[in-house]
Amino acid sequence: MRKVIIAGNWKMHKTRAEALEMLQTFLNQLYETPEDREVVICAPFTTLDTLSKALHGTRVMLGAQNVHWDAEGAYTGEVSAPMLTELNVRYVVIGHSERRQYFGETDTTVNLRLKAAQKYGLIPILCVGESKQQRDVGEAEEVITEQLEEGLLGVDQDNLVIAYEPIWAIGTGETCGSEEANRITALIRSQLKNPEVPILYGGSVKPGNIDEIIAQPDIDGALVGGASLAPGDFTRIVNYQA
Ligand code: PGA
Repeated sequence: MRKVIIAGNWKMHKTRAEALEMLQTFLNQLYETPEDREVVICAPFTTLDTLSKALHGTRVMLGAQNVHWDAEGAYTGEVSAPMLTELNVRYVVIGHSERRQYFGETDTTVNLRLKAAQKYGLIPILCVGESKQQRDVGEAEEVITEQLEEGLLGVDQDNLVIAYEPIWAIGTGETCGSEEANRITALIRSQLKNPEVPILYGGSVKPGNIDEIIAQPDIDGALVGGASLAPGDFTRIVNYQA
């Protein structure tokens, strides 16, 4: 049985005070959420310490949004895996399209970060996905295959989550059709050694479309950006109707 994971990706949102406020409301609403759904919040580095304390003893797991490949060193602006695990961080998003697009992340650095995360016991959420232009010229499959081949070199697939995030659907309100998302998810799965790796869909997931997305046989959960910032919306998403 593959694990179901609903992960919020807060991106560069929320001060510590705002994070705590969101969390208080969200945690109070979680009593109806079935226990077999793993709920994760991937928060900015500055909020992790505060969230780690607030989440202690709850069912919600903490995630970060990036990790460096070395344990320490002269890498201004970066954060290492031991710095995250000290705060009880369990998951880490790696290779998000915004990192690839705006911060020069490549499949090679993604691969290094994945291996470092696993070495220190973090579960990486590897993001893959094509741009609108790549999709329009029929290159989506090829782009994703390359991201997987290079990104997963030497990576342990027993300790891995993948998120399919078509770039054109991120933050645009334009969701990928659920059947098409399932088709690409199945394609991703066909390229993995371990068929048990949970594969999430990400890109404008909302209370109004989560039920349909999660009903797809190959999709094991969601990586949720904008809609994870509001407690009501994120609660409805983790309480999707199967
Ligand atoms: P979105 O972001 O839900 O706001 O589209 C998803 C993501 O980038 O992980």
